[in-house]
Amino acid sequence: MTTMKVKGMIMVVIMMLCIPINAQTQSDKTLVAYFSATGTTEKAAKLIVEVTGGTLYEIQPEKEYVAADLDWHDKSSRSSVEMSDAKSRPALNSKPENLADYDTIYIGFPIWWNSVPRIINTFIESNDFAGKTIIPFATSGSSSISNAEKELQETYPDLKWQKGRLLNGATKEDIKKWTKK
Ligand SMILES: Cc1cc2nc3c(=O)[nH]c(=O)nc-3n(C[C@H](O)[C@H](O)[C@H](O)COP(=O)(O)O)c2cc1C
Repeated sequence: MTTMKVKGMIMVVIMMLCIPINAQTQSDKTLVAYFSATGTTEKAAKLIVEVTGGTLYEIQPEKEYVAADLDWHDKSSRSSVEMSDAKSRPALNSKPENLADYDTIYIGFPIWWNSVPRIINTFIESNDFAGKTIIPFATSGSSSISNAEKELQETYPDLKWQKGRLLNGATKEDIKKWTKK
């Protein structure tokens, strides 16, 4: 056999070995969707993407939240008005593409008023998450994710929720340990 033929055969064997690996990694796709008003939750979302190899998606409001909108001392600020109305659904800028391709969806947000920013409700209600595994994560000043998580499960009982996690100050190692579970 010529050296060329041997090289060719080796290449074919390598390619055959690679096909099942590719097929497997593509069969479980992860989307890491997050809303972040001041960048903290975004950092956590990016670490999840690094660890899981998922696709990053920013949940963007049609109208960006400026500092005055986020003033929780002001009862008439945009966030206070939205959070005091359980039916408030701030409009989104876009929708994730090819959502049907994803099996696991992380949904991240800052804790607002010990709860979930209403834009997360808009996001959940404007997309079809049936049959997908949904994992919430959050960052906060000090509150836990428990109440936010409970509210999400109660509001959307038909969705397949998995235990969420507060990622305040989480490192890549912390996220590796968590996502392995
Ligand atoms: C309107 C508003 C309400 C908040 N409510 C809470 C709260 O109830 N508990 C808490 O620990 N932190 C609260 N925070 C702090 C944020 O959860 C925290 O700073 C978060 O990490 C911000 O994430 P981001 O930078 O991704 O927007 C609130 C912040 C805002 C703007």
